[in-house]
Amino acid sequence: MTTTTLTTRVAIIGAGPAGLLLANRLRVAGIDSIVIDARTRDQVEQTIRAGILEQGTVELLDEIAGSRARTVGHRHEGIELRFAGAGHRIDFDALVGRAVWLYPQHEVLRDLIAEALDAGQDLQFGVTAVEVEGAASDRPAVIAQTAEGEQLEIRAEFVVGADGSRSIARPVVTGSHGGYFREYPFAWFGILTEAPPSAPELIYSNSPDGFALISQRSADIQRMYFQCAPDADPAAFTEAQLWDELQKRVPGTTLKEGPIFQRDVLRFRSFVAYELRKGRVAIIGDAAHTVPPTGAKGMNLAAADVLVLERALRALLLENDERLIDAFAETALRRIWKAQHFSWWMTSMLHVQANSAGAGADASDFDRMRQLGELRSVVESEAGSRYLAEAYTGWPLG
Ligand code: DHB
Repeated sequence: MTTTTLTTRVAIIGAGPAGLLLANRLRVAGIDSIVIDARTRDQVEQTIRAGILEQGTVELLDEIAGSRARTVGHRHEGIELRFAGAGHRIDFDALVGRAVWLYPQHEVLRDLIAEALDAGQDLQFGVTAVEVEGAASDRPAVIAQTAEGEQLEIRAEFVVGADGSRSIARPVVTGSHGGYFREYPFAWFGILTEAPPSAPELIYSNSPDGFALISQRSADIQRMYFQCAPDADPAAFTEAQLWDELQKRVPGTTLKEGPIFQRDVLRFRSFVAYELRKGRVAIIGDAAHTVPPTGAKGMNLAAADVLVLERALRALLLENDERLIDAFAETALRRIWKAQHFSWWMTSMLHVQANSAGAGADASDFDRMRQLGELRSVVESEAGSRYLAEAYTGWPLG
């Protein structure tokens, strides 16, 4: 097989939010990169993911020519926490003077891809990374294969794995050590429906039947989730059953129903790799960490990783200064663990714990009552509410 060799300054594996945002920021700084992704452009642009952008993420996207996050996205200044039959508004604007934007991840990707191609970014879809070589040298490389079976060797000064939770770059960075890992005994059943919004803001509802999240997409498309078993089969529910499950978990609101045109089951995991960099290879975004979806931190955390790595790569590649890249993991991990904690906390506070074998009914009854105490501690205390508002809208990007 013939091998084509390409040369660039930074080889980026993965055209998700992390890889594309990094390529954009490096390009603006005068640093060339090649971005590859195993998926087709359509697959990248059509995969349904979360929809909430922190204020800082929107500010980063404002710097991208043609970004529609602020203009087409919807600004939300609060959320509702619902439990024990009552709703409680967390007023982000009053508590922290910040907001979030509802703008789906696949729309962010459409904006980033359009801008990249317009600006002449080398961005190749259908190219699968097979191996990362030479982490310890000054000339690491990505070996990849095109959809036509041609072999590519991308030689670079630095390799970034922004290639998601099944990262090919991660084992190069962590060796066999892996990372910190936690699984949860439940998942989310997500739907998209053609209906008007059921409420002005997102509702996070803790009910005896389990958690539900009433989110939105636009004036006529809504996104909703309900807690389900990890092995739930998306095809096993009729539309009537799905509305029934959702409706009983948000007592007090009559959901506006419409045709359900998309359904999926989201697994819950917390993961942080033990190492984020080895020599001239680093991992960012889902390759480095996974959060459970409650609180929508995934893409926002990827954007924060990008900012830390971009600064480190500018210092390394433009000024030959290694200090920031040496500090990269420690700097990024500070925010990663705060976001891990927040995502775990929102998850554990809002979901009903299945009564695990051996725990006995008393344990889950106790937890149920304790959860209500925890929720009251948040909504009845300005300090409690402010922590939620600060974390949800996002800590300042350092
Ligand atoms: C959405 C997803 C989340 O995980 C969340 O916390 C809020 C909104 C969404 O997809 O709309």
